[in-house]
Amino acid sequence: MKSLAALPITLSLTLLSLSTIFQSSALADKITSLPGQPTINFQQFAGYITVDEAKPRALFYYFAEAETDPVLKPLVIWLNGGPGCSSLGVGAFSENGPFRPSGNVLVKNHYSWNREANMLYIETPAGVGFSYSTDISFYEGVDDEKTARDNLVFLKRWFIKFPEYRTRDLFITGESYAGHYIPQLAELMIEANKGEKLFNLKGIALGNPLLDFSTDFNSRAEFFWSHGLISDPAYRIFTSSCNYSRYVSEYYRENVSPICSRVMSLVSRETSKFVDKYDVTLDVCISSILMQSKALRPMQVSEPIDVCVEDETVNYLNRKDVQRALHARLSGDETWSVCSSMNYNRLNLEIPTISLLGLVVKSGIPVLVYSGDQDSVIPLTGSRTLVHGLAAKLHLNTTVPYRVWFEGEQVGGWTQVYGNILSFATIRGASHEAPFSQPQRSLGLFRAFLQGRPLPETFS
Ligand SMILES: *[C@@H]1O[C@H](CO)[C@@H](O)[C@H](O)[C@H]1NC(C)=O
Ligand SMILES: *[C@@H]1O[C@H](CO)[C@@H](O)[C@H](O)[C@H]1NC(C)=O
Repeated sequence: MKSLAALPITLSLTLLSLSTIFQSSALADKITSLPGQPTINFQQFAGYITVDEAKPRALFYYFAEAETDPVLKPLVIWLNGGPGCSSLGVGAFSENGPFRPSGNVLVKNHYSWNREANMLYIETPAGVGFSYSTDISFYEGVDDEKTARDNLVFLKRWFIKFPEYRTRDLFITGESYAGHYIPQLAELMIEANKGEKLFNLKGIALGNPLLDFSTDFNSRAEFFWSHGLISDPAYRIFTSSCNYSRYVSEYYRENVSPICSRVMSLVSRETSKFVDKYDVTLDVCISSILMQSKALRPMQVSEPIDVCVEDETVNYLNRKDVQRALHARLSGDETWSVCSSMNYNRLNLEIPTISLLGLVVKSGIPVLVYSGDQDSVIPLTGSRTLVHGLAAKLHLNTTVPYRVWFEGEQVGGWTQVYGNILSFATIRGASHEAPFSQPQRSLGLFRAFLQGRPLPETFS
């Protein structure tokens, strides 16, 4: 991870000269109205930030200011994972953004996170969604390091466009493979802050994040088994003859051993493709939009099923009038898709990022890891083990013992806090995309996180 630290020195020098060019353009990015949207009283912006002039490359963003008192509310970045999936399509339009597409219109999401914060959704890396690189060779070797560096450049330049947000409290949130993106970006921000304080980073929150290849992936067997998705014998061989991390590792090296192949076909047969691995209790018709982590479950790749008749977000974001309203550009016959087919370095899945969370905590920045508890792709048990292990390593004592938390009059999940800075929480009944399946509980968790408070111990 050392190599991630170095950013071109020229960057900060060019910032000053660029600022004059960029300053007027926040207004140019203002969205007049999205086709089919209800009446709202907050501002929306969308557009591009160039992250490389030499071989032009730009990241697309969608920014929804807070519904009320935006000047008093923090700035929150949301990142989806994949790698290669869209924060606009998955995060903003299916999870925690202000609207959800429905037919020809947008309906209000009453649990939108912009009730609590100014929400910035970034399509990253270039090649995802509306983000692009004019040099298409970029798509051949995208990896964690390039993504983190582009994200940092994006942020620095976004603040030139929106200078009033520069000193605002800043939080980074996201899920799944953003368990790589977020800690890796945070590391660069902390490093950058050692000079001039550029980023007012106040906390990060990661939902069902990939933090450690072996722990996260190998918690899947027990989750399957304890939820009745696989038999006792299948569980035995899935935890002895070939475990899931070994299979994935072989799979991405195109070298699957006969034993792993046999184990995985048994596991796939028993779990069935008609059960949604992102929420083992949901019925299977889950929009392809929520399949942000195909890379995290390669056993599904060879047997794609699309039981959903229609994908509202894909239809909506491919409308020309919508693209015009968003200031989005696609060249020629390109279409917007949820996840990109770019050649992201899959071996990066094996890079552990849990230690980077330690670095963030040691810098005094609160970290929350939360888990939709019905997800088998990155199950809560692996995340809980990892957070507990990190707390022990950092010598952080428990400050909130493992207990339930409430949203409304119901248990929203369980939580534990270490050293008043490192927190773990589950969201009860939630999928891999927690704000999609449990919007109210997710908003409750988000609110407490922003306020730096433990989750509610009693009914409200
Ligand atoms: C998974 O399998 C690998 C390779 O056989 C092994 O090194 C590792 O210890 C196993 N992990 C678990 C948690 O079983
Ligand atoms: C954590 O708990 C241990 C054992 O109770 C105690 O010795 C230690 O001082 C505590 N550490 C902190 C930072 O409170």
